[in-house]
Amino acid sequence: MNTSAIPTGPVIASPPPPPWVDARTPLGRLIAAVLAVEPVRQLLFLQARRMMIRTAETRGIPWRRRREQLLQQAEPLLVASTNPATVIPPYYRARFHAYEEGNLCWQAACETEQATDSVALRVWKEEKQLNPAAAQQRMRDGIYAAIEPSLSGPVRDVLDIGCSVGVGTLALTDWLEQHGHSDVHVSGLDLSPQMLAVARVRDASGRIRAWHHGAAEATGLPAASFDLITAQFLCHELPGVATRAVLKEAARLLRPQGVLALVDQDPEAEVIRSMPPALATLLKATEPYLEDYFRLDLPAALAEAGFTAIRRVASDHRHRVLVATRP
Ligand SMILES: C[S@@+](CC[C@H](N)C(=O)[O-])C[C@H]1O[C@@H](n2cnc3c(N)ncnc32)[C@H](O)[C@@H]1O
Repeated sequence: MNTSAIPTGPVIASPPPPPWVDARTPLGRLIAAVLAVEPVRQLLFLQARRMMIRTAETRGIPWRRRREQLLQQAEPLLVASTNPATVIPPYYRARFHAYEEGNLCWQAACETEQATDSVALRVWKEEKQLNPAAAQQRMRDGIYAAIEPSLSGPVRDVLDIGCSVGVGTLALTDWLEQHGHSDVHVSGLDLSPQMLAVARVRDASGRIRAWHHGAAEATGLPAASFDLITAQFLCHELPGVATRAVLKEAARLLRPQGVLALVDQDPEAEVIRSMPPALATLLKATEPYLEDYFRLDLPAALAEAGFTAIRRVASDHRHRVLVATRP
């Protein structure tokens, strides 16, 4: 774990949302008004996307080349990655990131690996020599080190919900295998068949037990069948009501003493709270449920869903992990 990690817990209260996310503040109202003008919003999306690709390529992420490569390999896997019985909740069809079709399109799926590496680089943006793979590794190591103290024994069955293209799913598998959980079976679950098709390409040697196409709040998987469930960067993409439903489903899926770990943006992080308004405007233009995320008292929602031994760990200076146990 990064040495700046701050284990604190048990958690009793969450901080108020950052001022820029709260539409009731003057700044929040201004941002909301700007985003309500459609041509301005579109321009901001375009700007955000250009900026993201330019920065990524400068830092050694071959954004466009990798997109074409993944597309070619993933397209034939779409049917195998689709469960026709899966019901897509209406909130999921919102515009996400710079994509009109949100997570349900090839462009999003084939750019997610690159965007994920960009997120990791941004955590240590002052370290110009850090390469994308090393940044990703450091970010994930911090997350899994935060989870470790809550694991009471060998972990056998793991579900990574909102697994996307499997960057975290594979990193978690590596980490568990290297930390004494040699007999582990990790599965991923996501609502986007395109993301899952890319995940299968990235998991070429078939290390992941199953890539499930389904909703995290209604997985259809058997009760009490997992020792560990992770939601890595999922909650900020969910309306509050969906997050609560996901927590309830996770409680159903976990065995007694099973562990749920939620990692996402840290509402207590100084770098998040003091984000410059221009950057905050761009971020809000690409994340439809960010305000919901920051408004929800996640530790309290975990307790309401029946979880105990809730711990908060700042895994780096932008992200926190909430780790909780199902009694
Ligand atoms: C930011 S990405 C997650 C990144 C990934 N877990 C990682 O660690 O790099 C969020 C993912 O959650 C998925 N998602 C959003 N809502 C979902 C839901 N209700 N059920 C399952 N997956 C969902 C999206 O399709 C997207 O792939």
